[in-house]
Parts: sequence; structure tokens; C-alpha cells
Amino acid sequence: MGRQSGGFSPETARKDFPILQRLVNGHPLVWLDNAATTQKPRQVIEALAAYYSATNSNIHRGAHTLAREATEAYEAGRAAVAEFLGAASPENIVFVRGTTEAINLVAQSWGRANLGPGDDILVPVLEHHSDIVPWQLIAKETRARVVPVPLGPDGQIDRTAYADLLSSRTQLVAISHASNVLGTVPPVREMTALAHRYGAKVLVDGAQAVAHFPVDVQEMDADFYVFSGHKIFAPTGIGVLYGKPEVLESMPPWQGGGNMIDSVSFAHTTYAPVPQRLEAGTGHISGVVGLLAALNWLTSFDRGAVAAYEQGLMSYAQQALSMVPGLETVGAAPDRIAVLTFTLAGQDPATVADWLDRDGIAIRAGHHCAQPALAHYGLETAARASLALYNTSEEVDQLVASLRRLTDSAPS
Ligand code: ALA
Repeated sequence: MGRQSGGFSPETARKDFPILQRLVNGHPLVWLDNAATTQKPRQVIEALAAYYSATNSNIHRGAHTLAREATEAYEAGRAAVAEFLGAASPENIVFVRGTTEAINLVAQSWGRANLGPGDDILVPVLEHHSDIVPWQLIAKETRARVVPVPLGPDGQIDRTAYADLLSSRTQLVAISHASNVLGTVPPVREMTALAHRYGAKVLVDGAQAVAHFPVDVQEMDADFYVFSGHKIFAPTGIGVLYGKPEVLESMPPWQGGGNMIDSVSFAHTTYAPVPQRLEAGTGHISGVVGLLAALNWLTSFDRGAVAAYEQGLMSYAQQALSMVPGLETVGAAPDRIAVLTFTLAGQDPATVADWLDRDGIAIRAGHHCAQPALAHYGLETAARASLALYNTSEEVDQLVASLRRLTDSAPS
């Protein structure tokens, strides 16, 4: 993974994205829906085409050249993910479909083996539904409890309440590394250290974090770390579960099938070591090839400079949006990623998104799969612009100009 030194220019990134050249409703596309999914650079698109043009094979099973090449590509992806997350070994990396599947895997495998009546799973109120519902499902089955950790008025986790909720009953804390709706970056290292004092495990949902700032799973001491490829410039359908070696090794299979066994008989079946034990069936091989290309692409930039650029762009956007009459942003934690969720007085968020789309500007409107986070602000729905490294201040200006035209056109 080569690195460029020096500052960062979004134009360097933009030129790699063919989709940013297209028109939408007669206007150049302004993609501000990056928290839902990121666009794909040509390096990822070309890697997929090259894989299917020259290498396509199943992996691990075949004794032929293409099987060996596909296996090498898949395992190179695993090694790249380990390096990207600061994991000790590629064997700490399990490939899954995405963040949702990774969390369900932990709930169904680790959770079923380790949770019981009276145990607590602490889940902050800002979590995405995919970091709430899998815990509710396994808690119901094991008679454990899902305990919400409240937020302060700014959308940051209430640290005092968190400390008070931790106890010897706490088996797991499941925290986002960045909220998809409030942008909040919780103090995960501090929260993890505190949870570990009670012997609890910590799962960190990195879906919204990994594209924005560097992550080191060993430094934060997470027991589990999960993310989705499609939110980091890779294809949909590929994601990652990192686990500490001793935790992964203790986990029983959650799905049975090929690839995850050592030997099978009707009398007695034994399982492969991790990570294969947790990867039943044929994996998303081209997805891993695309993820490898995406990580190589992203890490070719100075990531500190990228993070600084995104923070600067967010400050610019916050300032610019504050000039739109009737616009209120949701979430104000000092530590945030470039997610701008907002309401516009007298306008339904879906109408706002529809209006912006006519100008070629893509944002998301709705509950953002984080209903408790919005309920914290008394809201059911909101509009959300979410930025990535290829966005520019000119695009923010277009967003603001379009919103101003909407408010100007509204009857007073
Ligand atoms: N979790 C994705 C979002 O926030 C889909 O939009």
C-alpha cells in the first residue's frame, strides 16, 4: 500500500470516479449520500473486470492454476484488511456480507455461547438498527437484557451514565465508531478500557468510520471490529469481522456447509480453524478482490491529510447550512465525521430530498435506520447530507443554493 506525502486535493480523488461525470436530471451529479454507500473508483471497477476476465475460479478446493490464483487474490485481500485495521494477523479477519452480517454472526455465535439470563448487553442510543436488533434477537433467546446507554444533548454518549450502567452483569458493549445519523465519534478507547474492567467484551461498528479516519484495532483494544466494503469504495456484499484471536478461536460455527469443516461423517463432524470455521460456503471472491483494490486506492493517499480535508469541508458546510432560513442540524458532538443531518422548517425531509434530486444532488431522507437516535431529538425523520473525500466546497455551495431556492419558493 503505497503512500503519497503532502496535502490532499479532492480533484485527485474525483478523477478516479467515472460516475461523478454523469448528469442527473440535466445537472452534474453531486453525491452527498456517502453514509448510505460510497461511489467506486475505476481501480475497483477495473479489478473486478480483470478478475472475471482472467482469474475467475472457486477457491481453496481446486488443484489448478485459476483456483490457485483466485485463492491468492482472496488471501491477499485478507492480509490487506488485517494491515488496514492494524490486526496482528490475517487469521483475525473473517469475510462476511457486510456490517449487518458481521454483527449477526457475533450475536448468533459468541452471543449464544456466552449470554444467559440476567446478562446485560450495553448499546448506546445512537446505534444503527443493525447494532440493536441482532442483540434484541439473541437477548430474547438467552434471556439477557439489551440496555440502552443514553446520549447527552449534543449527541455524544453520556459517559457518566455509561460508567453507572456497567456492572459484573455486563457481557458485551456494542458501540459505533461513528454514528450514521449524528456523526458522533464516541470515545471508544476509553469506553473499551472501562468495559474490560468488568470483564465485558466490546464490539465496535466501524461501518461509518473506516472511510474517514485510520483505525487501529489493537490500539483501541476492541474484541470485535466490523465494517462493510461498500461504504469504503468497494463493492456491496463484502464485509469484515475482525476478532481478537482468543475470542474468535472460542466461537462455534454459526452456519454449516462447505469450507468450514475439517472432516464430516454422519457419526462425527469436526470444524476447520478460524477464520474458515466462520466462512461457510463460497465466499464473495470478487468482492474481496474489489475490497483489496479499494483499500489500496484509499491508502495511496495521506489519510491524515484526507481526514483534515473532510473536517475542513464539514466546518465549511456547517457554516454554509446555518445561513439557510429554518434549517436546523441534528447532533453537535465536538468529535464528528462529516455527516450533516438536518430538518427544514415546514418541509418534509422526503420533499427536501426530492427537490435536491431535481438539481442532481443526492442526499438521504427518512429514519436512517437509527430511529432511537432521531427520537432523542424528538424526530421521526430527517434529511442527511454525508460527505466523502471526493466532495468539494463547490458541491456544498450547490446544496445550499438549492435549499435556499426551496425555502424562497415556499409560501410564507
Ligand atoms: N446505514 C446506511 C445509511 O446510514 C444505509 O444510510
